[in-house]
Amino acid sequence: MKRIFVLFLVAAFFSGLSFCQPYIDQVFTENLTNPIGLDCQTPRFTWIIKSADRQVMQSAYELRVGISKDLAKETKSIAWESGRIDSENSVYVKYNGDDLLAGTRYFWQVRIWDNKRNVSDWSDIAWFQTGLMSHQGWKAAWISAEPVDNINAYYFRKDFRTDGSKKILKASAYITAKGMYEASINGKRMGDLFFTPGWTSYNNRIQYQVYDLTTVLNSGENTFGIILGEGWYKGRISRKHYGSELAVIAQLYIEYEDGSSELIITDDSWKTTNGPIIISDIYDGEIYDSSLEMPGWNNRGYDDSSWSLAELKNFSKKEIISSDSEPVRKQEQLKPIDIFETPRGEKVIDFGQNLVGWVKLKINGAKGDTIILSHAEVLDKDGNFYTENLRGAKARNIYILNGEDQEFEPHFTWQGFRYVKVEGLLDMPEAENFLACALYSDMEQSGKFSTSNDDINQLQQNILWGQKGNFIDVPTDCPQRDERLGWTGDAQAFASTAAYNMHVHNFFAKWLKDLAADQFEDGNVPVVIPHVLGKSTAGSAGWSDAATIVPWNIYQAYGDIKILEDQYASMKAWVDYLVEISNDLLRNNGFHFGDWLFYSQDDDNGGRSAVTDKSLMAQCFFANSARIVASAAGILGKKEDHDFYSQLLTDIKSVFFKEFVTPNGQLVSNTQTAYVLALYFDMLPEEFREVAAERLVKSINDYGHITTGFLGTPYINHVLTSEGYLDTAYMLLLRDKYPSWLYPVRKGATTIWERWNGIKTDGTFQYPSMNSFNHYAYGAIGDWMYKVVAGINPTKPGYKEFIIKPQPGGGISSACGELNTYYGLIKSDWKIEDDIFMINIEVPVNTSAAVYLPALSIDQVEESGLNKKEMMKMDYFVNDDYLVLKIASGSYHFRLKY
Ligand code: BGC
Repeated sequence: MKRIFVLFLVAAFFSGLSFCQPYIDQVFTENLTNPIGLDCQTPRFTWIIKSADRQVMQSAYELRVGISKDLAKETKSIAWESGRIDSENSVYVKYNGDDLLAGTRYFWQVRIWDNKRNVSDWSDIAWFQTGLMSHQGWKAAWISAEPVDNINAYYFRKDFRTDGSKKILKASAYITAKGMYEASINGKRMGDLFFTPGWTSYNNRIQYQVYDLTTVLNSGENTFGIILGEGWYKGRISRKHYGSELAVIAQLYIEYEDGSSELIITDDSWKTTNGPIIISDIYDGEIYDSSLEMPGWNNRGYDDSSWSLAELKNFSKKEIISSDSEPVRKQEQLKPIDIFETPRGEKVIDFGQNLVGWVKLKINGAKGDTIILSHAEVLDKDGNFYTENLRGAKARNIYILNGEDQEFEPHFTWQGFRYVKVEGLLDMPEAENFLACALYSDMEQSGKFSTSNDDINQLQQNILWGQKGNFIDVPTDCPQRDERLGWTGDAQAFASTAAYNMHVHNFFAKWLKDLAADQFEDGNVPVVIPHVLGKSTAGSAGWSDAATIVPWNIYQAYGDIKILEDQYASMKAWVDYLVEISNDLLRNNGFHFGDWLFYSQDDDNGGRSAVTDKSLMAQCFFANSARIVASAAGILGKKEDHDFYSQLLTDIKSVFFKEFVTPNGQLVSNTQTAYVLALYFDMLPEEFREVAAERLVKSINDYGHITTGFLGTPYINHVLTSEGYLDTAYMLLLRDKYPSWLYPVRKGATTIWERWNGIKTDGTFQYPSMNSFNHYAYGAIGDWMYKVVAGINPTKPGYKEFIIKPQPGGGISSACGELNTYYGLIKSDWKIEDDIFMINIEVPVNTSAAVYLPALSIDQVEESGLNKKEMMKMDYFVNDDYLVLKIASGSYHFRLKY
């Protein structure tokens, strides 16, 4: 009987019949969960399907969208009913209903049919709320405060009444600032977002935020409070690039149940003053004087007669746009792991992790006492507090106490630190009074990676923490010194790794819009975005190429064609600019940072420094950008452009070959970076590839280590792997002496360092003025760890189809990579034990994968859920080194003799 049942199940499995009902596990609107304040007429919906069954594909879907939560019953409130649509499409399905109204919450649901004739239940109700939909929705006025010398934060307040006789149906506040703001209602902080309105190309785009205040407002008397600081707009960081005046604009729209409404707006009836925040600057930190506190200032009943009236500002509102990426929120909170006195007598707290955010301080001191918290990433070799590498950033929060129990957190600043020096206490600090809070853009962690090697696991953690600390609304080079800018070279090097670790889709989509907005008229691209530096460094190879590389990488990771549509003009303008300035397609001019921070020696009489010719690299990036534009044109159906840029690519490559390659295949720069770029960007005729790879490996062997800088490092292990030198790639990964990825790990690093030798072998520091201990660029190795060690690679952008091809090596006996895609979880979890190779694989519903197993025949392989016969029925083929199995969704466990 049992046997018959099993046979029946097996038959059902292969005939496509099933009894498992699929279900919708997660849904997204414009790639976000329940977003508020979307200014978009055609938001796109994505859903993740799950099923206990294998080989499940979506065959049809149905969506319904409406303004009532009860979409099934209240059919009158429906804005769009898609009806059943036969399609496998479960990502970016465009809304196609009635015009969306501003300031309205829409609810939606989806259900799907699968290829086994099952239908899911309707998903849980999700929602999105539209924003003002147009800058014309702004009825409020920009207001500002009279500047006061040596003060850079201002307080604004407004008492207002709601109609107490009516019930509030909905209340939403819309706010933005030229500056950085924190808003409150009746003394309570509004929302849980920080560093609003975020950093954009302010002269073109300023994001506003929306806060749902429906359950927060009092019936009757209320008070609106806003604190306005300089932030990115006017702080030292923006180098006077934007306007010199701070301003804020806010409106609160209240709808009553009887259909009436009310609008509270910033205008010249608002009151303003300065208060306890004396200075709050991104680089320098905050000075807060409790003696200047104004208890109850943002609450009802406060006497504001000594405050001034706000000044109206006639600033344009056209630049105001909705926020479409994840805001910064407070994330991990870490307790001290040690408190000690340094040899110099400094009282120092160690939080055990180099992180970015601030310290929350609880204290009860005497009135007028001053507590100073200074921040550092490392101690020096004698164990003293070390801040020289912060350059001109004071990175210090100063609190003047009022004698009561107090809790402090700064407002418009953050610090990059592991250690905090406390001054102003007689005794040693007590652990329970200090909490380190990490703050970063609230992106979901999408990837996980671990292996049997603890150092590699620490490296992965360092990459992840480097990403957290440098993804604060914009991708920055570093979070601690007086820089913290959106350096394009660093971002392009790291974007692909970033997309494995975290859900960076909207984060980069936003930043790329700023890149396009800040692009110069001639197509040249600034080296930091948002652009706040001069033009002289713009166009640097590998920096400005972020204009093409980042959209391309994000497209690969998320399969969102919109990113190519949105960026296409910018990508093309960049390549056209390069054509224009090159000398007959030879890019031997202009400023270049080059292979930044490559291996070099101080007293280099032996000529060991790995200097790569800048024009050689520039030519490679030129070709790569042309290739990306050609590919993007093809995807977008722009045939003429596709043909044009494909030909351009061929021509750029010919110029490269003529200019930089000897007849025997040596590059004019005989460096690792030169060979890596030439091979990765496919600059050489087929017959020259082998010799180039040999020369690369020879260089690695001669040095015994990596010598690449920012431009070569992201690709070196990929090139070694694809050219058949996997062992060399593993050697580089696992080396733990300087220079290598694991050298900092052995030195106790908890983030990625800017330089291979941030701390030298003797414990002293390299170039204090350019020595960040939290710089993600070299963390670009993460991409290789996911793609080659765990073996997870998209073959169709966004992972509708993908490869699982782990390539074990270096004595690593197990590895596990996980990636949450828009289809669900992909997992590749392998281990080698007693000559047996085992792998657990997860393939999400509605996707398929090709699994590469180290076997030469299907007979070698066992799968726990299938018998031999069933295995033989699988779609497979054998190539030189691998057995390739085509599998559709489900959990699989394969084992084979290795
Ligand atoms: C940054 C780098 C950046 C570079 C340009 C530095 O100051 O920290 O990461 O890419 O300038 O070379």
